[in-house]
Amino acid sequence: MTKRAYITTPIYYPTAKPHMGSAYTTMAADVYARFKRLDGYDTRFQTGTDEHGQKMQHAAEKLGMTPQAFVDEQSAAYRDLAPLLNLSDHNFIRTTEPRHYAAAQHLWSKLVDAGYIYKDSYAGWYCVADEAYYTEAELIEKDGERMAPTGRPVEWLEQESYFFKLSAFQDKLIEHYTNNPTFIQPESRRNEVMSFVKGGLEDISVSRTTINWGVPVPGDDKHVMYVWLDALTNYATGDGYPGEMPFFNEAIHLVGKDILRFHAVYWPAFLMGANEPLPKQIWAHGWLTKDGTKMGKSNNNVLDPQELINQYGIDAVRYFFLREVPFGNDGDFSHERMVQRCNTDLSNDVGNLFQRVLSMVAKNCAGQVPALGTLRTEDEALLQQAAALPALVRGHVDQLNFHKALAAIWDVVGAANKYMDTQAPWTLRKENPEQMAHVLRVLLECFRPLAVLLAPFMPASAQTLQTQLNYHVITLEELEQAGQIGLTEGTALPAPQGVFQRFELEQAA
Ligand code: MSP
Repeated sequence: MTKRAYITTPIYYPTAKPHMGSAYTTMAADVYARFKRLDGYDTRFQTGTDEHGQKMQHAAEKLGMTPQAFVDEQSAAYRDLAPLLNLSDHNFIRTTEPRHYAAAQHLWSKLVDAGYIYKDSYAGWYCVADEAYYTEAELIEKDGERMAPTGRPVEWLEQESYFFKLSAFQDKLIEHYTNNPTFIQPESRRNEVMSFVKGGLEDISVSRTTINWGVPVPGDDKHVMYVWLDALTNYATGDGYPGEMPFFNEAIHLVGKDILRFHAVYWPAFLMGANEPLPKQIWAHGWLTKDGTKMGKSNNNVLDPQELINQYGIDAVRYFFLREVPFGNDGDFSHERMVQRCNTDLSNDVGNLFQRVLSMVAKNCAGQVPALGTLRTEDEALLQQAAALPALVRGHVDQLNFHKALAAIWDVVGAANKYMDTQAPWTLRKENPEQMAHVLRVLLECFRPLAVLLAPFMPASAQTLQTQLNYHVITLEELEQAGQIGLTEGTALPAPQGVFQRFELEQAA
């Protein structure tokens, strides 16, 4: 049976250009997708843009454009992220596509048939920036004005509206969270959602008559669907809804912590109401901050992914954010930390190690994989640690613990550096060339899993490392089956070349 995986990013509002905060989720999703493919899974990876709603309609009006022309222009910048971030094969969805209208309207009709949608009138607070309804009790006061809990302005809204009976799902949601303890991750976020739901749920307004930029409500096109009901459906649309959804049971939705409630409460309730399957997991990560404040257009503190990538290269950027920020926590960017990670982790720890060993092989072993002698305890220890790495990394990536996966890889890098220093093959060169060859061979064997497992994180650099070893594997299974020894004596190796660049902080900052 084919093993399947499905990873999604939120679909982004294309009102502004993408910043590093949105690129972050997409890079993380790509690492997961690449890893699962390496691990033999048929993998679906989806990202896209969320193009309806009041916010979009207003932004277009301000520029004197039609909403459609506006989103066509704006969403291109998000599609262009793919080559910039070196994304692997993925599905890019736009909520203005006909296939998505069909999916959203189908879900709506099923909710109507099941009796979970009814018409009433709505009077309450709405925050356009968040595209969210808030109760009086949730509002905060800022400079004598009522504000959304996010600190953004709210407006009073009175209109005829369709409602979704969210109140009917309190027990069913609690039951689902309880029976599926990893449905919401990390644990602390799960507890937050649990207590929110236990506090009681009110029905939510799911249509608007005050705007017309949205998916029309079937049978009543005075109304358009609430943008979140429309947007959440994208995850199903992309998997073929209303047709069969081959990947949906495996879906992991990566989301920022600010949009967890929509994903962990509304979305499963909509799906339960329509009697559709639920995704496997909702994973809420933290925010990238600049001097402690959330990076975002409204805070005027965004980091441009293009600039950062021009400066450091995409592999270093991918590595930095996934290594530096434990997935789930907030994380701050600084050039100082970035330069340090590039120089220490990449250039010194990995780059120099490969370079030293490969240069010695080029000079002293005719540029060929040298012969292995009898394995001693210290050789076995290193080889065993390296051979155990694929399973360790798999365990961490499956839990979206990218920083732990990288830390485990660097444990082996550290052990290899230590082995190199203690064995000192450069002193063996004259006194015992056979032993030198043996030591270099042990190191080359230990490099194999490193070069393979780094590929999901730093695809281009890992490719170069594999070329240097003349070792390419298609799946993790092949790597694991090879065990401790996988190279063939006498295989020619290309001339060594540097893989990671060094940076000077003064120039970088
Ligand atoms: N369109 C909705 C999502 C609909 S999904 C069915 C939306 N869009 S957004 O463009 O405002 O935000 C998209 C994602 O980017 C969210 O997960 C949000 O948390 C994330 N980020 C926005 N700024 C961020 C940082 N500074 N750091 C990390 N993630 C950030 O909400």
